Amino acid sequence: MTFEIENVSKTFVSNDDGEEVHALKDINLTIETGKFVSLVGPSGCGKTTLLRIIEGFENPTEGTVKDNGEIVTEPSNERGFIFQNYSLYPWLNVIDNVIFGLGINGKPEKESKKRAMEYLKTVGLEDFAKRYPHELSGGMKQRVAIIRSLINDSKSLLMDESFSALDVQSRHKLQKLVHKICKEQNKTIIFVTHDIDEAVFLSDEIILLSRRPGRIKEIFEVKMEHPRNREDKKFEELVSEIIQAIDELEDN
Ligand SMILES: Nc1ncnc2c1ncn2[C@@H]1O[C@H](COP(=O)(O)OP(=O)(O)OP(=O)(O)O)[C@@H](O)[C@H]1O
Ligand SMILES: [Mg+2]
Repeated sequence: MTFEIENVSKTFVSNDDGEEVHALKDINLTIETGKFVSLVGPSGCGKTTLLRIIEGFENPTEGTVKDNGEIVTEPSNERGFIFQNYSLYPWLNVIDNVIFGLGINGKPEKESKKRAMEYLKTVGLEDFAKRYPHELSGGMKQRVAIIRSLINDSKSLLMDESFSALDVQSRHKLQKLVHKICKEQNKTIIFVTHDIDEAVFLSDEIILLSRRPGRIKEIFEVKMEHPRNREDKKFEELVSEIIQAIDELEDN
């Protein structure tokens, strides 16, 4: 089992006026190794906060997070994290950005570059390996940043709306790539998204959080075989069911 989230609550206190924001309340969740779990829910319900607590960027006000039995107190290389606004190293070209983390971990450069080229190919960036970040479009930079995180052999990967700024084709390609890597390497993925279609396409489980303070409102298990077909009736029905559950939260 990878993650055990026990009674996690988070209250932020403003430095300005001491006012409190209750972001999360009593979150209990177990995420098994190799599972793909999505977190969905209304804006401001605490999804990013929960992801940052699981990574160790933020401490919970109450409760604990365990990663393979060890209480999380700080970030670790075992857990990759893809930010919404990540940045590339401007002084390195695309391929050197992609293999940067592998170099730190002592992997041979030639092998790393070969693997990086395969990854770049899947997102149509093989011709841009020698270009520098300022020579890329926004979506291209995002693809490079995602690949840089995917190529590292972390045991888990926490992703915060990582595909939100991509065009549909790149998004679909990256969804498939992430799914393939997750299954091949038995990586655990926690994936925050507003895109319910994306969540149903990828996830083993979809966790719906309530409005702030975020609590677990409902857990949807997705039992369809991969690769999933968006035109499938079962697929469409589950997407509608989850969207309706979110609409009901917003209305109340
Ligand atoms: N560092 C912080 N200091 C104070 N309040 C914070 C901090 N980070 C988050 N919050 C508050 O916690 C609540 C949850 O924020 P969070 O970013 O986790 O929401 P979210 O579900 O990721 O929303 P979105 O879907 O819009 O990204 C919000 O009310 C936010 O203002
Ligand atoms: Mg967020």
